[in-house]
Amino acid sequence: MDLQRAEWINVSDLPPLFRDEILGSAAYVTKRYFRSAKGGQLDPVNVKLPIPFVVAITGTGQRGIGVSIALSYAQAGASGILLSSRSEASARSVAEQVKAINPSCRVEYEACDVSKEEDVIRLASRCRASFGRLDVAVFNQCEPLRYEKDTDGNPVSPSGICDELEEEIMKAWATNYHGTYSAIKKLLPLIQQSTNGPQTMIILSSLAANYPYSTMGSPSYNMSKLALNRLAEYVDAEFKSDVVCIAIHPGAIKINDETVPWDDGKF
Ligand SMILES: NC(=O)c1ccc[n+]([C@@H]2O[C@H](COP(=O)([O-])OP(=O)(O)OC[C@H]3O[C@@H](n4cnc5c(N)ncnc54)[C@H](OP(=O)(O)O)[C@@H]3O)[C@@H](O)[C@H]2O)c1
Repeated sequence: MDLQRAEWINVSDLPPLFRDEILGSAAYVTKRYFRSAKGGQLDPVNVKLPIPFVVAITGTGQRGIGVSIALSYAQAGASGILLSSRSEASARSVAEQVKAINPSCRVEYEACDVSKEEDVIRLASRCRASFGRLDVAVFNQCEPLRYEKDTDGNPVSPSGICDELEEEIMKAWATNYHGTYSAIKKLLPLIQQSTNGPQTMIILSSLAANYPYSTMGSPSYNMSKLALNRLAEYVDAEFKSDVVCIAIHPGAIKINDETVPWDDGKF
């Protein structure tokens, strides 16, 4: 995408959530919807990855962004994909989808709860034993947001910094932040050894990281994502001679989950 030539739009044209609450008086943003890479340079069917090219992805349960990332790497010709989520059955079903797209891709899966160190150690060992290298690690898992109902019955995030249960706060931290930290630590040596590849780590953060209100997510979710942004900076700075580490926010992506509120007028 040529950003110089991208269609810039005025914030005043955006839906109220973005215009009034998130961006404030920021002047311009890029085009509202980059919803699909179809047909463009970033369309995975138009990307030809070198061989070998091995990707490990956390949080590839049966739905969500992690699954799409895996299928996109399959389309782009990755030679190896290691899937993982807490449910082995989910990971297996995604593995079948990957195989259907790219039969020559070696796809493996491992049940891994990133908040459990022994699971993360097993994931890293599986990657080394099965593929002997790692080119890209994607840390995608998250503790799902919990929504309550407001007085009109509309779904809302827990509103106040003191409204969340201690248990929820610790879970968000263990899954989002600490799970990613732990997986980075265990996968880093293999990435460092894969010198003829991109040696890249990608953390799924969120726009909500920069937002001190709970309109988009609970305080614990938002703060765990803020910490992930800084974690990416630390890893990138410390290992920059060989490894790239970035945190990205994916925008607002509709996932296949009826419990997550979605308003097409807002997003
Ligand atoms: N969707 C959006 O609009 C949006 C916006 C901003 C940021 N993001 C970020 O993008 C990423 C993907 O979001 P999504 O919307 O696709 O979420 P999602 O559908 O809830 O997917 C999260 C995945 O994480 C897995 N998971 C949950 N806890 C885990 C744990 N302890 N260990 C390992 N895996 C675990 C789940 O699978 P199992 O249950 O099988 O383990 C699930 O597949 C997240 O990091 C999210 O914060 C999403």
